[in-house]
Parts: sequence; structure tokens; C-alpha cells
Amino acid sequence: MTDHILVETAHRLTTVTFNRPEKKNAITQDMYQAMADAVNAYAADDDVRALMFTSNGDYFTSGNDLQDFATGPRGDGLPPVAQFLHAIKDCPKALIAAVNGPAIGIGLTLTLHCDLVYSAASATFAAPFVKLGLVPEAASSMLLPAIIGMAAANDVFMTGRTLTSEEALRMGLTSRVFDDGDFAAETQALAALVANAAPNAMRHAKALVRNQNAAITECMNAESEIFAAQLKSPEFGESVAALMAKRPAVYP
Ligand code: COA
Repeated sequence: MTDHILVETAHRLTTVTFNRPEKKNAITQDMYQAMADAVNAYAADDDVRALMFTSNGDYFTSGNDLQDFATGPRGDGLPPVAQFLHAIKDCPKALIAAVNGPAIGIGLTLTLHCDLVYSAASATFAAPFVKLGLVPEAASSMLLPAIIGMAAANDVFMTGRTLTSEEALRMGLTSRVFDDGDFAAETQALAALVANAAPNAMRHAKALVRNQNAAITECMNAESEIFAAQLKSPEFGESVAALMAKRPAVYP
């Protein structure tokens, strides 16, 4: 159990809130486990019709907790991050991302598995995996080019650049942008609309649009192998050391 993830269900809607604002909502293994459990519980409960991710604090999430990255997975079995990624990939019901601040790493890649992505005007998106000596994850190497195009995706991955909410909207990464002051009310209203829609039609619509699960799974698994190897590499060590010391990384 962690209070860094809040899970609340009301009026057919589950809201999963990142609640670690003092660490910019960096996501730990305990948090991934809580998120995986919440998505799986939602998928299994016919009475709940929508799940929305959002956050407390000024960040959506600064991505995977860097210390946890370095520590590596605990115990046997599928690591919590993998459980979470498979849970969102396989979820047959509506997933909504209400991106109310900067979304880094998994903050961006989880939105690729959400059916509706809304962002606040001040939100930003970045996937600086290569800057960290890592590679794209969560099947983002397949999904991001498919959504925003190859050149734009490479710009995001290879330079680690940050997209504004308006750029993300133009590129099709987010569905709508709302002013910060209206964001919570607007996303709540849209989530309620989804939660009250015809459930079978909604499921069928999702299945029709998201019809490449086998290829996405294959991509995710291939990425995971390379990602795990890079985590053990000197490139990752130097990248994190440089980030912590706020100096440029130097690769031999
Ligand atoms: N993992 C672990 N801790 C993180 C974190 C992360 N991904 N992101 C932020 N934090 C922590 C900081 O270490 C700091 O902790 P401290 O107060 O105990 O020192 C706290 O959150 C606040 O962050 P800080 O860096 O002081 O805030 P900032 O506004 O100057 O910068 C970021 C915010 C997000 C730009 C910066 O923290 C950052 O670059 N984080 C790493 C992002 C990243 O590369 N994520 C991985 C993506 S794959």
C-alpha cells in the first residue's frame, strides 16, 4: 500500500491520482503496483465505466523514480512497471489521461495507451530516454511515430525535447487543451460523459480503434530487453550522475 497513489471510485468513474508532489510525482515500484492493481480492478468491474489518471501538485509526473531505476526490480515475478504497462495496454475499457502539468517519460508514454488525452495549457510532454542512456519504453517506439510521425517522434526521443501542450495538440498527442483554471472541471465533465456512455458500444469502439495488441505487446517486450540492458550500462550510470550533479554527461 502507498499513499502516493490515490484511487477513488464514484459515479462509475475511477480516478487514479499521482500524489507525490514533493518529488514531482516521480513513480516508484510501489506506485506502479498500486496503479496496476487499480487498472486491473477497473477492467474487472462492470459497474465502473471510465478510469482517469491525474495528479496532485505542479507536475503530472517527472517519470520513473531515478533512484528506483538504479535499484532495479525487487523479488521474483513480473516487475510492477511491467504489470502496469500490460494492464493499460490490455485494458478493454476507456482510459483517460488528464495531464495537468509536465509529463516526462512514463508520463508521456502512458498517455499513448489512453483513449482520451486532455492537457492543461501549461502542461508539457517529454520522453528523454536517450538523454538518460535508455531507450523508449511502453511500446512508445511504435506508438509515438504512429501518432505524431517519424520525424517528430525522433525529435522527441533523440533530442529529449519538451513539447508544449499546444504543440502536442497540433501533433495529435493530446485530444484537447484547456486553460489551467478550467482544466479540472472540464476533464471531470468529459470523464462523466464517458462513464455514462453506452458501455458495450464504448468497449467495441475501443477494440475497433485499438486493434494492434499483438504487435504492441511484441514491441513492448523487445523494448524491455534493451531497456533492462541499458539500465546496467555505463551510459545510464554517467547520465544519472550528470543529471544529479547538474552537469553535462560525457560519454567515451
Ligand atoms: N526521480 C526521483 N526523484 C525526482 C525525480 C525523478 N524522476 N524528479 C524529481 N525528483 C525529485 C528531486 O530529486 C527533488 O528531490 P529533493 O527535493 O529531495 O532534492 C524533488 O523531486 C524536486 O525536484 P527538483 O529537481 O528540485 O525540481 P526542479 O523544478 O528543479 O526540476 C525536474 C524538476 C522534473 C525537471 C527535474 O527534477 C528532473 O529533471 N527530474 C528527472 C526527470 C527524468 O529524467 N525522469 C525520467 C524520465 S525517463
